[in-house]
Amino acid sequence: MFLKKDLISIKDLSKEELLFLINTAETMEQEDCSELLRGRILATLFFEPSTRTRLSFESAMKRLGGSVIGFADPKVTSSQKGESLADTIKMIEGYADIIVMRHPIEGSARLAAETAKIPVINGGDGANQHPTQTIVDLFTIKKTQGKLDELHIAMIGDLKFGRTVHSLAIALSHFKVKLYFVSPESLRMPEHILEALRKNNILFSEHEKLEDIIPLVDIMYVTRIQKERFPDIMEYEKVKNAYIIKKETIQRAKLNMKILHPLPRVNEIHTDVDETPHAYYFQQAHNGVLVRMALLAIMIGNAHQHRNDLI
Ligand code: CP
Repeated sequence: MFLKKDLISIKDLSKEELLFLINTAETMEQEDCSELLRGRILATLFFEPSTRTRLSFESAMKRLGGSVIGFADPKVTSSQKGESLADTIKMIEGYADIIVMRHPIEGSARLAAETAKIPVINGGDGANQHPTQTIVDLFTIKKTQGKLDELHIAMIGDLKFGRTVHSLAIALSHFKVKLYFVSPESLRMPEHILEALRKNNILFSEHEKLEDIIPLVDIMYVTRIQKERFPDIMEYEKVKNAYIIKKETIQRAKLNMKILHPLPRVNEIHTDVDETPHAYYFQQAHNGVLVRMALLAIMIGNAHQHRNDLI
């Protein structure tokens, strides 16, 4: 059987499984999969706001012939009456075949997976992990650069609270890459991620200035400074405008350098960048549908049976 029952952390996936997922997502673009999950139901449980993750999962399930139940706002659920997450999950497992959940508390996705008899996918748990975004990011990097090895990749912005950069750095440690971490001092990449990279012999460097690394990199992965994660709003005010990328900022970039961003953006990428050939963040979000189709097809369809044909 390919993959564990659940997808909670990017660490749950081997390099072979990541490549298989990317290859399957590529086939989703070419094949008619519109009956693959006919009669199956996805539950989307979003205790935190989302546009891309929730809607791309819903679109993916519908494109595979399945249907969707769920909520986008916990205020309309019985959690408001004091129902525990474990009890909510026990209910949902009788209503659906697979769950995607986003929750503000780190570790909540693991708890849901341990409670549920049906598969659980982590759609983001606090500042911890966002594994499906990472698979989208890898798929997008491969699509734009034609490879996942021998690349120079910068991660820029909130590297402390940004769950997407934590997951992406770990996933990239399967490949031969050089990483550049660009952040204010107070938002540096956590030590446990740096330690994992050292163990895997991944070259990385840390920077406060963005300008120095722009000509060197193939990918600029920009993140939002996340106001909602700061315990002290004054600390947010100090760093909120640390990096604002404009058309002129990227004049010295390599021709095929692509800017990615998990989105939403606030002001960290000026809209004048959108018209440049470097902007790829909207296509990256669109790629989310193909990747989530692949995940659903593998986890509750029979796409895993074709694994050996694809890798
Ligand atoms: N990238 C991402 O997780 O976007 P949403 O918060 O809109 O789901």
